[in-house]
Amino acid sequence: MPKSPKIPVPPSSHVSIGSTSSKPSTASSQMTTTPVTRPDRTTFSTVIDADHSTINQFAALLKRATTPEERSRLILEVAWRLVRHDFSEEMVMRPAFIAHLGQEGQEMADHDRKDHTAARKELLDLLDSGLDLNEFPTRIGDLFAELAEHMKVESGQYVPKLEQLLNISESQRLGWEYLHTQILTPQIEYLDSNGKRTRLWKSAEDYVRSEPNRFLDIWHGYMAGNIKLIAESSGVRVPPRL
Ligand SMILES: [Fe+2]
Ligand SMILES: [Fe+2]
Repeated sequence: MPKSPKIPVPPSSHVSIGSTSSKPSTASSQMTTTPVTRPDRTTFSTVIDADHSTINQFAALLKRATTPEERSRLILEVAWRLVRHDFSEEMVMRPAFIAHLGQEGQEMADHDRKDHTAARKELLDLLDSGLDLNEFPTRIGDLFAELAEHMKVESGQYVPKLEQLLNISESQRLGWEYLHTQILTPQIEYLDSNGKRTRLWKSAEDYVRSEPNRFLDIWHGYMAGNIKLIAESSGVRVPPRL
């Protein structure tokens, strides 16, 4: 964990203007993102659905991968995006479920988190057990069938139930907060105590293998002004705060 700098810097000063996401590219490396434009002002459901769509596009490429090299590159690409998705939902969506839907929202949040924990475990197990396994396509197929069901429930039931209780500006605010958390990509840098730009993670694999608490600690440190994340280095641009 990086040391805390002496002078807190407001998080908003590190957020870029504009809005981009990422889409699959067979030529992309594990550590790069290919920006595509999307509207600056989106509702929460639009933002979540766009992230699901990006993950699913990489998952489709992974399912078709046949060589260990392709599998290695694509499983890490899918895995880091899923890890980030889980983190963004933990920071933004699950607290909103609980705040607006009480006990039912708590159960929705717990169910959502449990599915993500199981998916992460399976992806790490596949990384550890060898990408040239004969059972690799079946296990990836099963995993993404379960995740498709997860996304169907989330996008088709949970998020609409939440959005029914929000006005448009509240939904857009949650969308913005979700986009903001997306700057935690494997390539993001921070300013260390000597003012030097330093990577938080060595690689996508290092990122994927980080415990979930590490993401929470980094984010809370950033929001408190104790960790100077350099949003521009993340490859994700976030629109100005609403
Ligand atoms: Fe989820
Ligand atoms: Fe999701």
